[in-house]
Amino acid sequence: SRRIKLAVIPGDGIGPEVIAEAVKVLDAVTAAEPVEFDKTPFSLGAARFLETGDVLTPDDLAAIAAHDAVLLGAVGGVPGDPRLANANIERGLLLTLRFSLDHYVNLRPTVLFPGVPSPLAAPGNVDFVVIREGTEGPYVGNGGTIRQGTPNEIANEVSVNTAFGVERVVRYAFGVAAGRPRQKLTLVHKTNVLVFAGSLWQRTVNALAAEFPEVTVDYLHVDAATIFLVSNPSRFDVIVTDNLFGDILTDLAAAISGGIGLAASGNINPEGRFPSMFEPVHGSAPDIAGKQLADPTAAILSVAIMLDHFGLTDAAARVNAAVTADLVARTEATAPGSRSTASVGDAIVALLTHEGLA
Ligand code: NAD
Ligand code: IPM
Ligand code: MN
Repeated sequence: SRRIKLAVIPGDGIGPEVIAEAVKVLDAVTAAEPVEFDKTPFSLGAARFLETGDVLTPDDLAAIAAHDAVLLGAVGGVPGDPRLANANIERGLLLTLRFSLDHYVNLRPTVLFPGVPSPLAAPGNVDFVVIREGTEGPYVGNGGTIRQGTPNEIANEVSVNTAFGVERVVRYAFGVAAGRPRQKLTLVHKTNVLVFAGSLWQRTVNALAAEFPEVTVDYLHVDAATIFLVSNPSRFDVIVTDNLFGDILTDLAAAISGGIGLAASGNINPEGRFPSMFEPVHGSAPDIAGKQLADPTAAILSVAIMLDHFGLTDAAARVNAAVTADLVARTEATAPGSRSTASVGDAIVALLTHEGLA
């Protein structure tokens, strides 16, 4: 049978708790499939740094890159922990993986599942996907500071936007939009202020629109986009946006669709030259870590995105169906917060195996 080499990075905080459930679900759903995920665990994150002083060595990176995909929980210690002051796990590990593995598509779907309460009174049809650029923008670390610690300090953080980088992610987004029923693409930027990068993004969208005449193209400034995500989220189908705007919009998107515990993502290298990486949108949640309070659904839905990525569409659909059924059951039958992380994973596995979904 087909073998897929999977690097598993549980990470910090709730990362190991949610990844345990995601792996359970992966094993259950693939049990009857002609595919095997060969899992290699990698112990990386704040805990590793505190033990060894390493964040991600060249050997770690090479070993991970030799896999077909990566499943990651979350990384990052307790914000403000003085022992981590110089570690910067987020840059040194998570962003280094996204950049080194050329994850230029950060795919973040938002769906309001049946029965899941939204904080919006009238959410309407919430079913959109944010395609967040993953390798450029203000994230690249192109900056510096001078006269640090003095009243004359100057700290620059320069957003990098290349024609190559913008074109490839916008092209991917057009392709996704073309394949969805509503065929609508919204560019979100801040072209009225960030005129250089904004102009490059807008010109790129305009140029590619001619190649995708079936796609309706729209534009919103990022501040206005936050209004509509709350007041009328059903206007969105596919959003394409810059790395930082995409980060912010997808936490908001998670909040309107039932919470950060449900938001899944894929960091995709579409050409398959490097392993893609699948992870919940949320972080290590130190406030609830170690207590079995985290919702593993985001990690489990990230497994579904991974299965889709490998063309295992039936398995992906079964995970989505089991999650959907579990979400309906939990809103009907359980008080919020009354289920442990493991019990949610077990319930989803039970739905997969006992109700013919596996
Ligand atoms: P966070 O996402 O960890 O937590 C924000 C809030 O959401 C917290 O109240 C948390 O309890 C809650 N939450 C998160 N995931 C949940 C889940 N599965 N179920 C229930 N509640 C959940 O964001 P933060 O507090 O800003 O960051 C904490 C640490 O995580 C920081 O070190 C940050 O840099 C890091 N981080 C890592 C990633 C990643 O690894 N991909 C993503 C975001 C933040
Ligand atoms: C996310 C996180 C990361 C990001 C951080 C931890 C670097 O917030 O995956 O959304 O900003 O991309
Ligand atoms: Mn984020």
